[in-house]
Amino acid sequence: MKKNQKIAIYPGTFDPITLGHIDIIERASNLFDKLIVSIAINSEKQTLFSIQSRLEMIKKSIIHIPNIEVNQFSGLLVNYAKEVDATAIIRGIRALSDYEYEFKMALMNRSLDENITTIFLVAHQKYTHLSSSLVREVASLNGEINQLVPHVVVKKMIKKFEK
Ligand code: COA
Repeated sequence: MKKNQKIAIYPGTFDPITLGHIDIIERASNLFDKLIVSIAINSEKQTLFSIQSRLEMIKKSIIHIPNIEVNQFSGLLVNYAKEVDATAIIRGIRALSDYEYEFKMALMNRSLDENITTIFLVAHQKYTHLSSSLVREVASLNGEINQLVPHVVVKKMIKKFEK
């Protein structure tokens, strides 16, 4: 690691990654030397895609962005942030309704570790209605998702639901 490198983490479930997430990743990658996109492993959350599959979809979707690392973490986010020398947590805000949950999470993370700052980026207006669960629902009912997720995700979704 280069000295004084500014590192941020963009955590999430990414089940699957959407164009809304990619928009946030592109913006955040311009602000930091390195952005770590990290899948939170939560054994209580039922997911459509396995961790391996989600990692693969993210990696293939962000291949055009040079300063990104993709991985997974378990346990507390702030502990993981410290482990990888990140000083910031990136979260995307799509609408006011996201704010309350995000605000509480940011304050909790700050109370756990004062040195890690949460930064909210405003999601692109094209994607304010977008969420992974809506994408899963539309795809499961054979709806069009080309405008919502990267091409690699469209392919995986079609495969998943044709079974
Ligand atoms: N574009 C599109 N969708 C977006 C989005 C954007 N810019 N930003 C968020 N979303 C959607 C996601 O698709 C997801 O939709 P879904 O619920 O329909 O699947 C939803 O918003 C929230 O997902 P995500 O951003 O992945 O957050 P999360 O709530 O699943 O995960 C963690 C939050 C992982 C950051 C949090 O649980 C965590 O830190 N866990 C580690 C344990 C820990 O430290 N806990 C203490 C926290 S204070």
